Amino acid sequence: MIRPPRVDKMRWRWALRQVLAVLWVGLGTSCPCSDPTLCIPLRGENQFEVFVFDVGGKDWKYYDWSKVTTVAAFGPYDPELLCYAHANEVRVVLKGDVPLKDIIDRDNRIAWINNQVQLAKKQFMDGINLDLEEAAAYQSVEYYALTELVVETTQLFHHEIPGSQVTFDVPWSPDCIDGRCYDFLKIANSCDFLFVMSYDMQSQMWDDCFAKANAPYYQTLSGYSAYISLGIDSRKLVLGVPWYGYDYPCTQLLEAGRCALPKIPFRGAPCSDAAGRQIPYKVMMQQVDSSITGRFWDDDQKAPYYIYMVDNTYHEVWYDDPQSISMKSAIVKKFGLRGVGMWNANQLNYSNDPSAIKQTEDMWNALTEENGELELSNLDIM
Ligand SMILES: *[C@@H]1O[C@H](CO)[C@@H](O)[C@H](O)[C@H]1NC(C)=O
Repeated sequence: MIRPPRVDKMRWRWALRQVLAVLWVGLGTSCPCSDPTLCIPLRGENQFEVFVFDVGGKDWKYYDWSKVTTVAAFGPYDPELLCYAHANEVRVVLKGDVPLKDIIDRDNRIAWINNQVQLAKKQFMDGINLDLEEAAAYQSVEYYALTELVVETTQLFHHEIPGSQVTFDVPWSPDCIDGRCYDFLKIANSCDFLFVMSYDMQSQMWDDCFAKANAPYYQTLSGYSAYISLGIDSRKLVLGVPWYGYDYPCTQLLEAGRCALPKIPFRGAPCSDAAGRQIPYKVMMQQVDSSITGRFWDDDQKAPYYIYMVDNTYHEVWYDDPQSISMKSAIVKKFGLRGVGMWNANQLNYSNDPSAIKQTEDMWNALTEENGELELSNLDIM
């Protein structure tokens, strides 16, 4: 006997509902978001990346979500952040950090990568930012293992979490900075993009021992030129700017901008920014107006600084502000880079005092403004 088609249709519907219910419950039991669809990892590529490092707490509630495209969650897992980011079409990625010695063995390496994929899935995340910053000699076992790590991490993430993003943090230049002689071209080609850490540029001072800018403009520029000269596609590079500065106690202050430092060697160089202390932007903004000098601008390094005194010691503080940052963001357009980002988003004053709000807005806007363009057009690019 032939059943009326209506019944078949109803059965099919019923079956579909069962499948959906199982999926729904599967997501629903562990999905922390009120809307379970917010636990689905994001897909698709952003034309312009704004890559944000978050180190924990609830500052993220005050970020400029009209700009952010990816949050690298370097603090404890915060499900509330995950749901909020996904509701704004923003990716949240894991911090990937493992000692190089633990990934030389292939089985260990694959096991580590599998753990990261499982963790990302469990937390409904959208990828991983690999932040290994150890020294590796050119063509050493570490050098090859690191490249393999990036290749395999990208393959596994892309396969297991479709649409996921795998990125890798690189120093301001590919020129063996702090002993990091990696296979940058292969690493760039293997993952989605590189986050270029254009800061801590005084980690090795080879010439003299004076306080300098965290991220001098021309040095920043030369780093991108060097990466592109290696054959790396400029769309594989995200420009990283610092939202912190360095406070240097001077052994002697010869004049403003000539603050002599104690000699603290680092990886072969006689002096280092280790003579100073990293300071968040919000702290410097509390200090600059009452300092001896107020804000000074160094036109060679294209960076602001100020001098204050405590316990009979002069301190010179070098930092980045909207003026120096917007000059750097002009590099993004100039070189056709993938986007911009900062270490880290928590360094601003997110209180609701009007002056703090203005200060914070100006910093977020500097990421995508190009105030430096006028000045840039008169300069020869190195
Ligand atoms: C943030 O700004 C407000 C207003 O200027 C100020 O009172 C507060 O101390 C600042 N907080 C920090 C951590 O700098």
